[in-house]
Amino acid sequence: RPRVLSGIQPTAGSFHLGNYLGAVRQWVALQESHDAFYMVVDLHAITVPQDPAELRQNTRIAAAQLLAAGLDPERCTLFVQSHVPEHAQLAWVMNCVTGFGEASRMTQFKDKSAKQGADRTTVGLFTYPILQVADILLYQADAVPVGEDQRQHIELTRDIAERFNGRYGETYTLPAPYILKETAKIYDLQDPSIKMSKSASSPKGLINLLDEPKATAKKIKSAVTDTGTEIRFDAENKPGVSNLLTIYATLTGTSVPDLERQYEGKMYGALKTDLAQVMVDFVTPFRDRTQAYLDDPETLDAVLAKGAEKARAVAAETLATTYDRLGFLPAK
Ligand code: TYM
Repeated sequence: RPRVLSGIQPTAGSFHLGNYLGAVRQWVALQESHDAFYMVVDLHAITVPQDPAELRQNTRIAAAQLLAAGLDPERCTLFVQSHVPEHAQLAWVMNCVTGFGEASRMTQFKDKSAKQGADRTTVGLFTYPILQVADILLYQADAVPVGEDQRQHIELTRDIAERFNGRYGETYTLPAPYILKETAKIYDLQDPSIKMSKSASSPKGLINLLDEPKATAKKIKSAVTDTGTEIRFDAENKPGVSNLLTIYATLTGTSVPDLERQYEGKMYGALKTDLAQVMVDFVTPFRDRTQAYLDDPETLDAVLAKGAEKARAVAAETLATTYDRLGFLPAK
């Protein structure tokens, strides 16, 4: 079985709809066909300041949501990044094969650091993509299921893996991005020119999966649509309606052309009312399942402990090979 690896940050508490449609939904599907490793990336989270009690709880909330979304610990390996020390260890090695200029070109870093200012930007935020390189290479992943905003980090991973392999001999599998075109970028409901995100979206533009279903329905109903009346997919001229159609189609397993036919001659309001109900039907059981996992933290922690053990077996082997290739003297 080919292998996939991906990660999600625990910082926000609730996942948003972009996280789910862009990434987590694919994770669930891929566990059937792939040897799948999925993690909650708490090491990445501390690149910006975190409250310790909140980080601990948010890490459990993230894991609970992944299980609620359909990850099955019998079918995939689900773990917390800091439970596998090899991530930090390989990240150091990757720091030493990455060019400073190369790291400086990462657009997510440039955007985030520009917003924060140089003195509030940590060196960890700068090397964040290099930790991600280590995450991926440790598991010899063939593919990495993510949204469009992560593409550059996967390209960096390929470049660095190739460089290392060229210099020290075949060591790492070159990973391919696994990005589904339709859901690669889910847009803000109030401003469909920007992606839905915790940091950039206004509260009304962002759907948190753990929010009150009623509040979620309201956000869908007040989503910005476009001038004109026709319900048609046209990302350029009708970005608002197109975003709603993408969400609707994905959550119901309908095709966009079928939806266009279904809503022919109908008003935007009809589409939004129906999609609001689709969302409520999706988030209500999702919240309940998440809460059920959170109500039993011992079982949840046991799932994560078992996941970490499975992950570590793979990660330790890659790290040992890496150290050997580099010429580190064995410890024994
Ligand atoms: P994170 O936590 O920001 O986001 C998790 C996943 O959600 C996707 N995503 C979106 N997809 C579509 N539309 C959107 N509006 C949207 N917003 C977010 C992201 O692309 C991501 O797939 N650096 C990563 C975490 C990470 C990782 C890794 C991923 C750490 N190590 C190794 C893959 C492999 C991140 O911050 O994701």
